[in-house]
Amino acid sequence: MNSMSLSANNTNLSTINSTGLSAMNRLHTHMVVLTVTADFNHANLNMGDTAAERNEAETYPYRDRNKCSPEEEARLERQHFWKIIDAFRFYRTHVQERVNRTERQFRSLPQRHQRLLSGFLPNLSKIRQCVDQNHEVLQAIVRNCIHMFENMEYGEDDNARKVGPSSTFDMDKLKSTIKQFVRDWSEAGKVERDTCYKPLMEEIQRQFPPEQCDVSKISILVPGAGLGRLAWEIANLGYSCQGNEWSFFMLFSSNFVLNRCDKENALTLYPWVHQFSNNKMSADQTRPVFFPDINPQSLPPNSDFSMTAGDFLEVYTDPNIWDCVTTCFFIDTAHNVLDYIETIWNILKPGGVWINLGPLLYHFENMASELSIELSYEEIKGAILKYGFQLEVERESVLTTYTENDRSMLRYLYDCVFFVARKHTQQPTNGTLSPKDGVSDESAPKEDVAAT
Ligand SMILES: C[S@@+](CC[C@H](N)C(=O)[O-])C[C@H]1O[C@@H](n2cnc3c(N)ncnc32)[C@H](O)[C@@H]1O
Repeated sequence: MNSMSLSANNTNLSTINSTGLSAMNRLHTHMVVLTVTADFNHANLNMGDTAAERNEAETYPYRDRNKCSPEEEARLERQHFWKIIDAFRFYRTHVQERVNRTERQFRSLPQRHQRLLSGFLPNLSKIRQCVDQNHEVLQAIVRNCIHMFENMEYGEDDNARKVGPSSTFDMDKLKSTIKQFVRDWSEAGKVERDTCYKPLMEEIQRQFPPEQCDVSKISILVPGAGLGRLAWEIANLGYSCQGNEWSFFMLFSSNFVLNRCDKENALTLYPWVHQFSNNKMSADQTRPVFFPDINPQSLPPNSDFSMTAGDFLEVYTDPNIWDCVTTCFFIDTAHNVLDYIETIWNILKPGGVWINLGPLLYHFENMASELSIELSYEEIKGAILKYGFQLEVERESVLTTYTENDRSMLRYLYDCVFFVARKHTQQPTNGTLSPKDGVSDESAPKEDVAAT
């Protein structure tokens, strides 16, 4: 890892406490620390602001794109930070406008049609109340978050600053973030967590059995950690676990739930309130979800759990550090998934394992100006083997959902791959590795325990 390591987090805890995030006092025990460990990639974070912006680039700038001076980097990052805060603040206006439109359209119907739907306007009132409640939680999330990163200041909140309309893209991200609370921190998300996180956690325990090793010495990284539940669960099992996340939407929210929520099911969100289609019952749209289903501050004493902020590819460059990298619904977030494979290979200790579960819904596929290399699983597997990984476990069909509305008339099912790939134990010569030319897929040993 680079300079901002866990020990740096510890040293700086007093800085965090002095900023007034009182719940962060517990950080001494749990080390739920958010650290900006490398540049946010503004090109990525700002993607999709407007169609015009998206179409501007004619080339496909790669990883070094848009590199500018450190001052300019810092300015852009601050700008992006405030843009996301503004999105949280604009939420209510945005959704209420949507509800107003529905009301206007209803009122434009002939009276005889309106009379058939006596529950329609009362339901809209209920929807408005749900949006207000969501808004309250969103404001609580961004309250005080200007000081949440121990090593980065974003300036003081200026009430005079005008909150302009946010892009549809950012509003969609915010609505997805609300749904992510269901997946990670509600009782309603348990079934989904059991299908996605449980296989990963069981595999971790199989690889590093608590009865055979000191699990507190096993270092596990979860890139693309979302709201942090998987990383938290791994730490709860006693392993030393770090989540890494890149989106401010997720980071603000995970900071809130991990550091500032300590009463089970004390908070309410209405995650499905934005869904106007595919509802069987009107009340399905306005049903509440409570969180957190478990007190995030209940990790055992001396747990080693942290979160870092930044682009996985930029944060994790030090070789041979991690015993295990666990990825869940992550590898398809890459512009070029080979970059992820290369980084995972590099940062794993010799003999370390990469455990993966997820689909291949490439995030940049439909963004015209963004590089997006969409490989099949077959191609990814070939590359993994060429890097020198040994594929020890492979299940090609694990059915899961992702932030599913289980009462919707439209539901998506992901047919995920699950695999365990081990980095061979031979010490690399220079830290950075390239694919082992000439190693054919067939030559790599593989014990397929999928059926067991
Ligand atoms: C589909 S979500 C999965 C979240 C979580 N693993 C889960 O299963 O619920 C992918 C996550 O990866 C994050 N992400 C995407 N690219 C990233 C990068 N380069 N570095 C760190 N996080 C990234 C996204 O912000 C998002 O939260």
